[in-house]
Formats: sequence, C-alpha cells, structure tokens
Amino acid sequence: MGEGQIRTQSLFHRVLKGEQAPIPPIWFMRQAGRYLPEYREVRAKAGSFLNLCFNPELASEVTLQPIRRYDFDAAILFADILLIPHALGQELSFEEGEGPKLAPVVSASDLDGFSKQDVLEPLSAVFETVRMTRVELAETKSLIGFAGAPWTVATYMLAGGSVRDPAALRAHAYRDPNFMNALLDLLADKTIGYLCAQIEAGADAIQIFDTWAQGLPETLVDDLSLRPMEKIARGVKQQFPQTPIILFPRGVGTVATKFAALDVCDGISIDTTTPWDWARAHLSPHAVVQGGLDPLLTVEGGERMLNAAANLLRDFDGAPYIFNLGHGFTPQTPPENVKALVDFVRSGDWRAGDAS
Ligand code: CP3
Repeated sequence: MGEGQIRTQSLFHRVLKGEQAPIPPIWFMRQAGRYLPEYREVRAKAGSFLNLCFNPELASEVTLQPIRRYDFDAAILFADILLIPHALGQELSFEEGEGPKLAPVVSASDLDGFSKQDVLEPLSAVFETVRMTRVELAETKSLIGFAGAPWTVATYMLAGGSVRDPAALRAHAYRDPNFMNALLDLLADKTIGYLCAQIEAGADAIQIFDTWAQGLPETLVDDLSLRPMEKIARGVKQQFPQTPIILFPRGVGTVATKFAALDVCDGISIDTTTPWDWARAHLSPHAVVQGGLDPLLTVEGGERMLNAAANLLRDFDGAPYIFNLGHGFTPQTPPENVKALVDFVRSGDWRAGDAS
C-alpha cells in the first residue's frame, strides 16, 4: 500500500471515470443513519455519536449496513466533517435533537495553535475504519472517503454549532478577509493530509461537502468555497492522481459550472434546487453529475417518488450519471421506500414511461 492503488473497477468507479452505464450506480448521502433500525441499534450500543465515529469496529459495521440491506454500488465512510475541528482541539459534542456544539468560538489567536496541531494521529481510528471496511467490502463496490469543505467546517467552528445567522458570517468574511483566508487555508492543508490518509487506508474515491456554500454571492463563492475546495482537490490529486474526487457545492446555482470545469473535479453532486435539464446541459460536459433527488420524496414514497426518479433518470440518460439525493436522508425516511426506489432504478422501467 502507500501508492493509493484503486482496488476496484466497480460500476461506480467506471461511471465516475466517464463511462456511460445503462443503469446508473446508486448510493445515497446519509445512507448510514437514523432511518435504519440496525443503525439505531449500533448507535445506542456506542453511547454517543462521537464514540461511534471513533470505534472502528462499530463505524465499519454501520458503513456496511446499507450495502448489505440495499446492495448499493458505493459505501461512504462513517465519520463526520466536524472530526477535523475536534482533532484541532476544539471541543465537540452532539446533543440529542440539537445538533453539534463546538466551543469556544475561534479567533485569530487560535490559528497558530491549530496550524501546529497534527490531525492524523487523533484521527487514526478513522483510517482504521477505512481499512477494516475495505477488507469487508466486495471488490465490486467502492468505498468513498470524505471531508467537509473549509467554508462549511469554518461556519461550525465560528458559530460554535449549526449557523443560525448566515449574514453575520458573511459580514465577518467581508470585514476580516485575512483571518477568514488564513482559517480556510489552514483547514484546506489539514484536510489534504486527512483525505490522503483515507486513500492510503483504502478509500477509492473522495467527496468534499460544502453544505453552506448556499446563500453566498458569486465573489464569496469564489473566495470561500471554490478556491479552498480546488486547493484540496489539487493537493489530493498531486499525491493520488487516479483517485476520483466529487465536489458538492450545495446551493451555488449556476456557479456550479465553475466547480465542474476544474480539471481536478471528476464528479459534481447537485442539490435539490438544481434543474436537472440545466445540469445535464451545463455540468455533464465537464464532470459526472451525481444526485438531485429531493430526500423528502423518499419520506413520501410511492408514485410521487418514482415519477420524480424517472424524470431525473431520463434527463441524464445517455450521459454518465450517479443516482443520489440532493442532500442526505432525513431520519423520517421509511427504509422500505428506499428499497422501492432502488428496485425501480435497477429495473430500467423508467425508460419506458413517457416523460411528464
Ligand atoms: O452515511 C453517510 O453519509 C456517512 C456519514 C456522514 C455523517 N455526516 C454522519 C452523521 C457524513 C458524510 C456526514 C457529513 C456531514 N456532517 C455534513 C455534510 C453533509 C450534509 O449533511 O450537509 C455536515 C454539515 C455534518 C455536520 C453534522 N453532523 C450535523 C449538522 C449533524 C447533526 C444534525 C443531525 O442530522 O442530527 C451531524 C450528526 C450526524 N452525522 C449524524 C450522522 C448519521 C446523526 C447523529 C446521530 O446518529 O446521533
């Protein structure tokens, strides 16, 4: 090991490299999570969410659960984007029903300490999870490693949790661009090392989540989202040029074309607001499109879900495409709806119906 060889020629991998498949590969954001009873059982055993993230045996088990149940084409490492601030020394906890809490809020004086802090040793359990999972996972399946994009991670670090006032953060970025750039740069550097270690341990592809790129004007998307994500992708590709990278700049609208056009972007994940025919016309020529289906449709299920899936699939028919959601599953999704969705995609029946 060490050269990050790709251990799989899975359908997911081939499509992400640009091959067009009659039936697209399938995986879902938050496919390991609270909508699955077997996840809730392991989660209860672990005691806390962080205990689960740092227990390679249990984390590997929940990574594999959705593959066993649904035979998805890719597993995504069970971890969290907030493990990086945790490893940097920012206290982190997840309160039931309240989301993450981080303390204390970061200021310029913290940056020196952060930059000296090694994150690989504190996160060694994550790499062990990757190793264990890759051994268990069939060769026909890919294992996706991931990290948060610097801006999204920074929003949690600065707000001490989920952002309640995005305007205050934007104002901060305008007021103190030097501090913001220094923080994002530092996070990008740490994240390159973190992702490369995931690839060394056996991750076959990487996804970078910029959940809170949403709501930024184009100049801030460029500075806070695009450039830091590009820096990470370039840094990872320098060491592992063969490992495909998927970017998820959520809510950036037509600016998504700038991400897709990067030579280091293999896949672009689209959110629930992106029009599918627009993505096909403007993103597919540059990168493999992934996702788009509103996760709330999987709560609803039935014809409404299947009709939407059929329209989505027909919009991308003839282009390499990876079936996924526009954001993660919510805990309310009935597992049987996911089964119906996967069966429908794999049946190919969506080809027959008329587009409506
Ligand atoms: O199945 C998978 O997708 C793999 C694991 C994964 C988790 N989080 C597990 C998780 C991944 C890829 C993430 C990414 C993540 N984490 C993002 C980016 C993607 C997105 O959803 O926008 C963000 C913003 C986070 C931060 C985070 N983690 C929040 C805001 C929360 C609390 C909100 C909530 O859903 O409760 C988490 C907790 C979290 N991460 C859970 C899971 C399964 C639920 C916690 C639990 O089980 O107790």
